[in-house]
Amino acid sequence: MTTVIVATGNPGKLAELKDYLQVLDWTLALKPADIEVEETGKTFIENARLKASEVAKLTGKWAIADDSGLSVLALGGAPGVYSARYGDSDADRINRVLKELGDERDRRAEFVCAIALSRPDGTIALETEGRCPGSILTEGQGAGGFGYDPIFYVTTQGKTFAEMTHTEKERYSHRGIAFDQLMPQLKALDIG
Ligand code: IMP
Repeated sequence: MTTVIVATGNPGKLAELKDYLQVLDWTLALKPADIEVEETGKTFIENARLKASEVAKLTGKWAIADDSGLSVLALGGAPGVYSARYGDSDADRINRVLKELGDERDRRAEFVCAIALSRPDGTIALETEGRCPGSILTEGQGAGGFGYDPIFYVTTQGKTFAEMTHTEKERYSHRGIAFDQLMPQLKALDIG
């Protein structure tokens, strides 16, 4: 069984990735706490590549990284790669997006999730980007999920991310879409 390092210090993200990758014969491990990779990329995919590649080189093992966030059309793509840094708390970040959007009628947005898998030498073996289109409500709806979930309405499902069950979100979210896209290639990859 091959060990793949998940390029995150967040145990919640490790648990989530384990869910998506459980069909593979991999042992997933958190990156060592002393490895810090600065997210200096201008795009989600740049950050995912950077994190996977740096962690792989420093550990000498395969590494997988994801980078995700919300992109609002009328805000020129903001908060984008700054999604996690757009305020001090989830409530702060949501309020900032709602304030910046004001009464703008075009409320189209998308969640994006980029994933990259790096070989031990730091070269990228596979990458993908999953996108979930939706729109920003004028106030939050629903109590589940995290982050911007309450204000992100998925038109095709008629509910916000915060109103979805865990299974629904896993299926329809940007992260679910990205892993679906990547899965056939991950299965075909021989990393033993
Ligand atoms: P990161 O990929 O861990 O850097 O997360 C980026 C940020 O994007 C998170 O802190 C959240 O604010 C936001 N985000 C990413 N995915 C989701 C989601 O599924 N729901 C709500 N917010 C999300």
